[in-house]
Amino acid sequence: MVLKGCIFDLDGVIVDTAKYHFLAWQRLADEMGFDFTEDHNEALKGVSRMASLEILLRVGGIVKDDEEKIELATRKNNWYVEYISRMTPDEILPGSIDLLTRLRSEGILTAIGSASRNAGMILDRIGLRLMFDAIVDGNKIHSAKPDPEVFLKGAEELGVAPENCVVFEDAQAGIEAAIAGGMKCIGVGSPLNLGRANLVVPDLKHITLNQIKNL
Ligand code: BG6
Ligand code: MG
Repeated sequence: MVLKGCIFDLDGVIVDTAKYHFLAWQRLADEMGFDFTEDHNEALKGVSRMASLEILLRVGGIVKDDEEKIELATRKNNWYVEYISRMTPDEILPGSIDLLTRLRSEGILTAIGSASRNAGMILDRIGLRLMFDAIVDGNKIHSAKPDPEVFLKGAEELGVAPENCVVFEDAQAGIEAAIAGGMKCIGVGSPLNLGRANLVVPDLKHITLNQIKNL
């Protein structure tokens, strides 16, 4: 392929925020009186805040009306923001900075394509905002992954056609979104969850520019 742009999911690809999402959801489940495990949490990865709450409530067998759901999601987000407001650049995942630096030195454009409405705050905390030519987050989109909107908008903001973009994703919903958008994708994590990706690597340390170009 002719590689012109790389679009990165943020949570779980560039930075390890999944643990903070988990802590906050678990705290909410705890207050409602049920157990929420790391296994349950897998299904929440890449999924929007309200869709995550729906999954959590299903796990607990709890029914809430719309107003209560908004209150619960707000409560979770306040805890989450409290956790991420203490993040440092030490929490950037291995290989991220080297890969971004390499891509940019080759003239390949870089973007964030994240479902999170907190992406801007995280990028500021870890000091990586300037490593991206475009940042598309949950505040800019209407349809959550697996809908391709977030990645298509990322490509559009970069001024690159989808077929010249590669997406990096740690969530199944994100891999589906990339495929639906007509983009090649690299799964970051386990092939057990990310089998539909063109290539799966354990982290960004284990990928070379040639591998990306040869997808
Ligand atoms: C995704 C995470 O990046 O963002 C999900 O993988 C999360 O776990 C989603 O629910 C929305 O994030 P936020 O910060 O807007 O609640
Ligand atoms: Mg993710």
